[in-house]
Amino acid sequence: MQIKKASFLISNSDYTKCPESNIPEYAFIGRSNVGKSSLINMLTNINDLAKTSSKPGKTQLINHFLINEKEWYLVDLPGYGYAQASKESKEKWKKMIEQYLLNRENLYCVFVLVDTRLSPQIIDIKFMTWLGEKQIPFCIVGTKADKVSSLIVKKNIVSLEKELLKTFTLVPQIFITSAEKRMGKDQILDFIDTINKS
Ligand code: GTP
Ligand code: MG
Repeated sequence: MQIKKASFLISNSDYTKCPESNIPEYAFIGRSNVGKSSLINMLTNINDLAKTSSKPGKTQLINHFLINEKEWYLVDLPGYGYAQASKESKEKWKKMIEQYLLNRENLYCVFVLVDTRLSPQIIDIKFMTWLGEKQIPFCIVGTKADKVSSLIVKKNIVSLEKELLKTFTLVPQIFITSAEKRMGKDQILDFIDTINKS
């Protein structure tokens, strides 16, 4: 699949105010600064569609984008684990995201982004375990693969798989990407297309 058209629709803090849930929806989530907005810009071929920043905590709301002519929604979610955020704003984030993930009935798959430069992070494992417990379908996207050697990427992904196998019977699909090198785009879009057509 190629994205021919992508446009920003609406930002929300409340899932009940999200657009009508009549087409498939795919959400992107992960630690603050992991590269969610950059990945979305790569997938859509529009450099400034989702706002990116070198400082963590840029995306604060549930952001809906409409892909092609009412084909599917892409959602940019605010990152978790931003150390500098206040306790109050962390709680607010948790409530907003959990409500969205638990109640959005057209959410076909969540893409959980992890930084390929790092060994498995407890916060990511905890979040994936929560998704698993709630039976929310997800897959994993390794980001920033241009920043380290492919050997390190491989090592980190293998340890992530090992860590996940402690709680999951099967490891979800893992995509390796680089927004910088425009790598992994076709694999993710083809995956979405296959689900949309099934
Ligand atoms: P929040 O909205 O704050 O949670 O961040 P985010 O996950 O949306 O991250 P964002 O896309 O804003 O990227 C964070 C920083 O990482 C920016 O400086 C990006 O330029 C950089 N970055 C993102 N993806 C890549 C990548 O694939 N390669 C490299 N080298 N840098 C990247
Ligand atoms: Mg962002």
